[in-house]
Amino acid sequence: MTKVLVTGGAGYIGSHTCKALAEAGFSPVVYDNLSFGHKEAVLWGDLEIGDIKDTDRLQEVIVKHNPIAVLHFAAFINVGESVKNPGKYYDNNVAGSLSLLRAMEAEGMDKIVFSSTCATYGEPETLPITEEEKQQPINPYGWNKLFVEKMLADFETAHGLRSVCLRYFNACGAEEEARIGEDHTPETHLIPLALKAAKGETAGLKIFGTDYPTPDGTCLRDYIHVLDLADAHVKALDYLLKGGKSDAFNLGTGNGFSVKEIVDAVGRVTGTPVPHTLEERRPGDPPALVAMPQKAKDILGWEAKWTDVEKIVETAWRFEQKNPKWGG
Ligand code: UFG
Repeated sequence: MTKVLVTGGAGYIGSHTCKALAEAGFSPVVYDNLSFGHKEAVLWGDLEIGDIKDTDRLQEVIVKHNPIAVLHFAAFINVGESVKNPGKYYDNNVAGSLSLLRAMEAEGMDKIVFSSTCATYGEPETLPITEEEKQQPINPYGWNKLFVEKMLADFETAHGLRSVCLRYFNACGAEEEARIGEDHTPETHLIPLALKAAKGETAGLKIFGTDYPTPDGTCLRDYIHVLDLADAHVKALDYLLKGGKSDAFNLGTGNGFSVKEIVDAVGRVTGTPVPHTLEERRPGDPPALVAMPQKAKDILGWEAKWTDVEKIVETAWRFEQKNPKWGG
């Protein structure tokens, strides 16, 4: 079976993508140091434990498995932490990606799908956001991802590496069987925190900012189901395997939901109104981030299937109730 190397494949989006790869007839090879990934989430394909910065180990794994392409998820994801500790983020996310590109170059690999982010747009001038929007990040995390996008372009010029950059909006939800899902430590994302508050696991949710220039004063985000993201990776891989040229795509639904709308949806799904307090704005939060996903539809044939926010929250709730407490 055709193997695909999946860095960070034991993580949230990576593990769901491994499932989608297996369903599409590929054999994923997960490369993960398990610092944040969970070995319990590696249910499809092999697990090779290794650090993204360990170029020799990456080369060894590439030689052993001979994968046809790389899907590169491995990265730190906490925006706030990236502001406080940029060195840690540039080291893991930028130097780590460079290590991967050098291993690929050394072993003659020439196709990669990269997990990028809408955070590369910073505070966009136009909504919904197209891929033409100026990329002007407002935090180190966004810059990390933008630098890697730039490195990919330079490696193409020099070495013929073809890449697809997938710029995710707000990943959420879990597979319907709830074996894998979102389990970050610490958790900073809205939906899992709202679910934990509804469960009584925390004192309550803090709603950050109620005076934004949005209809109800709270931030608008484009919540995209993790299974839709997984599907986009398989489509991007197929596109590269068929000879598609390097490109970047926004992955979102095209619809924005406010923090309050999400909190209400969590209340309806769990049957418990989410206990919450209204707080000051969280530094670095743009008021609204909503994707224009037309390009991914036109070129990759991808479209979000999960557009009902309650159905999305239901899948996250099912996983939250199982509460695997993987930790890490
Ligand atoms: N929020 C709260 N309370 C919380 C957590 C979040 O009110 O306890 C609000 C945030 O202020 C924001 C919205 O809920 O308005 C969504 O916040 P998340 O932390 O869930 O997601 P972000 O939009 O901040 O971040 C996501 C990804 C990042 C990515 C970023 C791009 O998690 O990896 O989108 O902006 F960089």
